[in-house]
Amino acid sequence: MAISAATKAATDALAVNRAPTSVNAQEVHRWLQSFTWDFEKNRTKYPTKYKMANDTKEQFKLIAKEYARMESVKDERQFGSLQDVLARVDAAKRVHPKWNETMKVVSNFLEVGEYNAIAATGMLWDSATAPEQKNGYLAQTLDEIRHTNQCGYVNYYFSKNGQDPAGHNDARRTRTIGPLWKGMKRVFSDGFISGDAVECSINLQLVGEACFTNPLIVAVTEWAAANGDEITPTVFLSIETDELRHMANGYQTVVSIANDEAASKYLNTDLNNAFWTQQKYFTPVLGMAFEYGSHFKVEPWVKTWNRWVYEDWGGIWIGRLGKYGVESPASLRDAKKDAYWAHHDLFLIAYALWPTGFFRLTLPTAEEAEWFEANYPGWHDHYGVIYEEWRARGCEDPSSGFIPLMWFIENNHPIYIDRVSQVPFCPSLCKGASTLRVHEWNGKLHSFSDDWGERMWLSEPERYECQNIFEQYEGRELSEVIAELHGVRSDGKTLIAQPHTSKDGRLWTLDDIKKLNCVFADPLKSFEAGDK
Ligand SMILES: [Fe+2]
Ligand SMILES: [Fe+2]
Repeated sequence: MAISAATKAATDALAVNRAPTSVNAQEVHRWLQSFTWDFEKNRTKYPTKYKMANDTKEQFKLIAKEYARMESVKDERQFGSLQDVLARVDAAKRVHPKWNETMKVVSNFLEVGEYNAIAATGMLWDSATAPEQKNGYLAQTLDEIRHTNQCGYVNYYFSKNGQDPAGHNDARRTRTIGPLWKGMKRVFSDGFISGDAVECSINLQLVGEACFTNPLIVAVTEWAAANGDEITPTVFLSIETDELRHMANGYQTVVSIANDEAASKYLNTDLNNAFWTQQKYFTPVLGMAFEYGSHFKVEPWVKTWNRWVYEDWGGIWIGRLGKYGVESPASLRDAKKDAYWAHHDLFLIAYALWPTGFFRLTLPTAEEAEWFEANYPGWHDHYGVIYEEWRARGCEDPSSGFIPLMWFIENNHPIYIDRVSQVPFCPSLCKGASTLRVHEWNGKLHSFSDDWGERMWLSEPERYECQNIFEQYEGRELSEVIAELHGVRSDGKTLIAQPHTSKDGRLWTLDDIKKLNCVFADPLKSFEAGDK
């Protein structure tokens, strides 16, 4: 009987390379390299403008069986701790209520990134031709599946064992109400899986994983532990042990294209765009989550940012790639300006828009306000006084008939949404670097808050067509939108989002919001064509 081409290829390969007689991992790895793909006929579904070299190496040299053995040990430790010791000490109930809310955002949002990283690394596997490089991407695909489950499990664990499960258990159904999800999807979804495969790798591995993963997955464990949360470090540090492989994959991706002519033309622009895309969202959002979403503080976000983003990544990590022609992004210096005030600016807006969220926010207490002023001199005069006014008007109590969004309208501080990042900004109130610019294209007005995003949009406007909440809900009343888009708890009337975490405080309902008669209005409507 004739044997198939695949069987013949395997038989021939075995004849040339005798099967190893030891179980030495390196020997097995070398042997496996002879079983490879037919590159002559390889046709990728996801082409890239760069040519990835055919002989690229991969540092980990893991074979699947070792990989599975290693990951199963990590899973046993993690799930064992969660289901045994942490359940017995009632760990989920010991978490500070403010931090419990923060984890609704952090774990749900990281899950978005993990899920898209599965697709991104699958796409890279498809684009690469070197067997070792494919092997590295394949291991990462498996890691990202693991991480997606882990993030989902954190929210499941909190909702099952902890306090106030609303938002831990059903965050995704609220994804179209507020602006935070859209920004998240821009960085960790579009950024990872749309466009050129190598550009996606730069977004995911070179910037997402080598740069923002450190604050997102490591610093978060310090803040969690300081606020009584032992669950998050148990899971997130287990995730982080896989990230080394992912950073190495990002490094090897750059090595694989370094000799291609396209690299000298496009690589630094792609890196700069990827860095700006990721930082524009994470710099303010992570700073806000840590400093405003905690009671016990670790260190000012600006310090963490400088150490991990500016020095370690922008200096050391990118410096190592200097021999391949990679330069630190030109936008890094402007990002540094954002690291000081941008998260404070964002919290003002986030708190004003609290009914559109899926978590509870709280204003800084007097003790926390002192910490802000000590670490960000000038904070009180700019932000603190506004929070005092909101509190005096009863913003936490449904009977006050006041949400801070009304204050923005009364004081003529319009809130715009940056088309490229989807991050909201208020040019007349912000202390950070955001300034308003408006363009007309395709019969529609678009607002932007910075030079880099504006430049990215001007060269490829078709990439940024996502409607923002003001366009989407123009003319609609707020409680109607919340009800329609599932922003309520299981009683059908109490909002998931609340402007406090007090056990004794009353919870806002749809009726309380309806009484305010807040109607979505697009601030760009006040711009006539040409008035830009
Ligand atoms: Fe991951
Ligand atoms: Fe990763």
